[in-house]
Amino acid sequence: MTTSAIKWWQKAVVYQIYPRSFQDSNGDGIGDLKGIQERLSYVSKLGADVIWLNPIYQSPNKDNGYDISDYQAINPEFGTMQDFDDLLAAAHARDIKIVMDLVVNHSSDQHKWFIESRSSKDNDKRDFYIWRNPVDGHEPNNWSSFFSGSAWKFDEKSGQYYLHLFVEGQPDLNWKNDELRDQVYQMMNWWVDKGIDGFRMDVISMISKPDGLPDAPLPAGNTYANPVSLTANGPHVHEYLREMRQKVLNNADLMTVGETSGVDIEHAQKYAGIDGSELNMVFQFEHMGLDDNPNPALGKWDNQPVSLVKLKDNLSKWQTELEGNSWNSLYWDNHDQPRIVSRFGNDSAEYREVSAKMLATLLHFMQGTPYIFQGEELGMTNAYNLGWDDFDDIEIINGRKFIVDKEKLVDNDTMLDYVHYKGRDNARTPMQWTAGKNAGFTDGTPWLKLNDNFETINVTAALADDNSVFYHYQKLIQLRHDLDLITTGHYELIDPADDQVYTYKRIGDDQELLIINNFTDQDLERDYPVPADAQLLISNYQDDLGLKLRPYEAKAYLYNR
Ligand code: NOJ
Repeated sequence: MTTSAIKWWQKAVVYQIYPRSFQDSNGDGIGDLKGIQERLSYVSKLGADVIWLNPIYQSPNKDNGYDISDYQAINPEFGTMQDFDDLLAAAHARDIKIVMDLVVNHSSDQHKWFIESRSSKDNDKRDFYIWRNPVDGHEPNNWSSFFSGSAWKFDEKSGQYYLHLFVEGQPDLNWKNDELRDQVYQMMNWWVDKGIDGFRMDVISMISKPDGLPDAPLPAGNTYANPVSLTANGPHVHEYLREMRQKVLNNADLMTVGETSGVDIEHAQKYAGIDGSELNMVFQFEHMGLDDNPNPALGKWDNQPVSLVKLKDNLSKWQTELEGNSWNSLYWDNHDQPRIVSRFGNDSAEYREVSAKMLATLLHFMQGTPYIFQGEELGMTNAYNLGWDDFDDIEIINGRKFIVDKEKLVDNDTMLDYVHYKGRDNARTPMQWTAGKNAGFTDGTPWLKLNDNFETINVTAALADDNSVFYHYQKLIQLRHDLDLITTGHYELIDPADDQVYTYKRIGDDQELLIINNFTDQDLERDYPVPADAQLLISNYQDDLGLKLRPYEAKAYLYNR
């Protein structure tokens, strides 16, 4: 890849804000748009170019905003449309772009389309959703919802079932319907005309369902089957995205990222192809599934460490296979994942900071557009102090109902362990700004309990410490901006079978980078050929012992070829 061909979003770093948990400005315990505006200087200080906002639209909040009842209205909990316009203007004044969440695989069951659709079989919006007759008095197929239980809800009034791949309050939209697609594009253009800078597209890989909606392979002993292999990358998905590109995305210089659950390399190359016919980039999930439970019925619920060799193998595959033809997103954390330092790092007092910096270094020298989820830049950890009465997330609540109470796959304590390791609420606890009341997040009662480590892990402390995780992230962002090689270089993995150290190169015409990451709490030694005049660009220790590596040591060298 040549420097002249770099697009702005290929050199950008994205900061993800979960508005509900970022900053409350009115004391109701829920973060809001004004709160985000107050904190823009923090995002500027970090150096991020783009903010991705999780959904802020009107919603009954069955799935925290991912069930939208009006795509063109702001949820009053977050403020008003004026507040949004103010935030957008204030962000642009700082040269920060704003990317919106687009949730159009499903709407809320309170959306006017669904209210009409469910009102009768011959309503003209009936076909905006996926309705089917019962089969032998049962659901039309064996698909499970991604949040447990059946993916079908029976509607007494019409005697038919509707499909909801997520919770009941999230009926799936029928993308086969031309008028539905048209309405979605009109709504997107309305946001584009407002001046937003792009879209993160929620489970966009799922919008085209397979013809005939066949049963999915059923694991032994299970009632319902995970349908991801059938619902992801369906027969018309690329056609729909090409249409969206023509009708909306080409109307401005936008950044688009598809959340593409179930994506493989072949489909990613189409979604994110550099020919620009669909999206700019995708979120792939394979590296987030490497520590899944071996029992498919338990899915993500487990507490086992990841295998470094598998992680290298997977990330390297994505680096290599997308190079030159499509574009990666790079992420560890988001609002659906636990905190990375607690998952792939070490969140003990001794190693939290150094391992958080190591994970950041490992990811931020790769090819792709990096995403930082709020608090990741502080090394925020999983929230072990939350108990069953504290959780809010529907995935956790339904997961316990089905896995523990109904299917009895594990006991309550084991499930709690799994939730502390993998649950989404680990990411969603309020942002930790200060060591004071409610970590400076709210004057009221926070909607979700705070992580009780906020007195030590918070923004004030991080900004006061030159050596903090925050400044490490700041430096990584600066390096990406300054050094095109991080965007363009060819990726090469060193020692794939080394199960302790993750080392790779980024190779350019005249220079190369060597990035070394000790994934363990051990002192180690390696023998990579590092030229004597190599420049140390960044490290998470104060001094450099060359190839003697201390616990979780991470560093990057730059040298001429
Ligand atoms: C993916 C989103 O990131 C997640 O938070 C949400 O629950 C599902 N899609 C359903 O919209």
